[in-house]
Amino acid sequence: MSAVLAGNNSEDVANVAADLVLGIESSCDETAAAVVRGGVVLSSVISSQVDIHAIYGGVVPELASRNHLMAIRGVVGEALTSAGVGLADLTAVAVTAGPGLAGCLLVGLEVGKGIAYARGLPLVCVDHIKAHVFAPFLTEPGVVREAPTYPYIALAVSGGHTSIFEMSGPGEGVTLGATIDDAAGECFDKIAKLMGLPYPGGMHIDRLAALGNPEAFDLPRPLQNRGLDFSFSGLKTAARLVWERLVKDGTEQAQQADLAASVQAAIVEVLVDKTLKAARERGIKTVVAAGGVACNRGLRRHLSERAKRQGMRCFIAEPRYCSDNAAMVAGLGAEMLKRGSGVTGKALVEADIFVTQRRKRA
Ligand code: KG4
Ligand code: ZN
Repeated sequence: MSAVLAGNNSEDVANVAADLVLGIESSCDETAAAVVRGGVVLSSVISSQVDIHAIYGGVVPELASRNHLMAIRGVVGEALTSAGVGLADLTAVAVTAGPGLAGCLLVGLEVGKGIAYARGLPLVCVDHIKAHVFAPFLTEPGVVREAPTYPYIALAVSGGHTSIFEMSGPGEGVTLGATIDDAAGECFDKIAKLMGLPYPGGMHIDRLAALGNPEAFDLPRPLQNRGLDFSFSGLKTAARLVWERLVKDGTEQAQQADLAASVQAAIVEVLVDKTLKAARERGIKTVVAAGGVACNRGLRRHLSERAKRQGMRCFIAEPRYCSDNAAMVAGLGAEMLKRGSGVTGKALVEADIFVTQRRKRA
């Protein structure tokens, strides 16, 4: 179990009156719980199932939900202990209700409902992707971090999602663009698998890319000059054809880093182009990036540099809050609670996972 721990001793005095929210996340293969007060993360505990799924080269939903069931009690307990609080101190529970794997979401939701109901607390059902793009607001005790201001353009880029939102408030926003096929993280992972790298492959491509030439292979930038939607399946096929040629020539080991760098350059260029294009089109000067792929060093550097050159402010979530975590869920949940999104009583008992994600366009 990995934990981002922070004792509550140095908690800002100004925050003591703010809501103390327990967040729970179980949408995919990380079981996570966190305690957040006023955007300050008091504890964040993540139990990753990555080793369990690695042998299958991807997440097996049935295994994932079973493992959430086994881990969640310990993870919630550790989050409370690390924060130095008990259930009686909480003012609300926030839980990821979608999108994600149904069987996985249900584990976190039912545990959250159980705690909220037993303690008479409001429950806030949080959208996982909107929680990702809230992550740049998080901070730790005694740490002052500049935060974005609304409205902002958000790039949510993970293993399951690649979307651009115009965010007008916490959890409130419209979709400006999304992938029409694979997510960027999926593209990283599938190309990494092809190249014989471990799962999940994004960070391995990132490491190799630092050693290679991003111009070694001329890979496509799909839909680059067309709208704000993404497509990564063509890039995946192009990378496969290059890799197969290298294998045939027996040069695949020598050129692995060059291919990794070229793949990363193609993905990053499209992500950055479209995020900045969205900001220009909407006349918005603040851009945000979050989600697992926002750990990518190439993406972090190019988005920050190019946003700055275009006179925009750029906020990228801290790497520890990019991958799936519950601090982002608790943080967004606290803001939604202030805006009346908490449910109690019958509505709490009937709270369900989000079944359909309707795409709202600006
Ligand atoms: O947000 P996340 O933890 O889970 C989902 O909601 O999907 O994202 C996981 C994705 C994986 O595809 C993983 O390969 C990718 O994030 N990822 C990276 C890096 N670190 C994680 N992709 C590129 N470069 C990285 N450094
Ligand atoms: Zn995620």
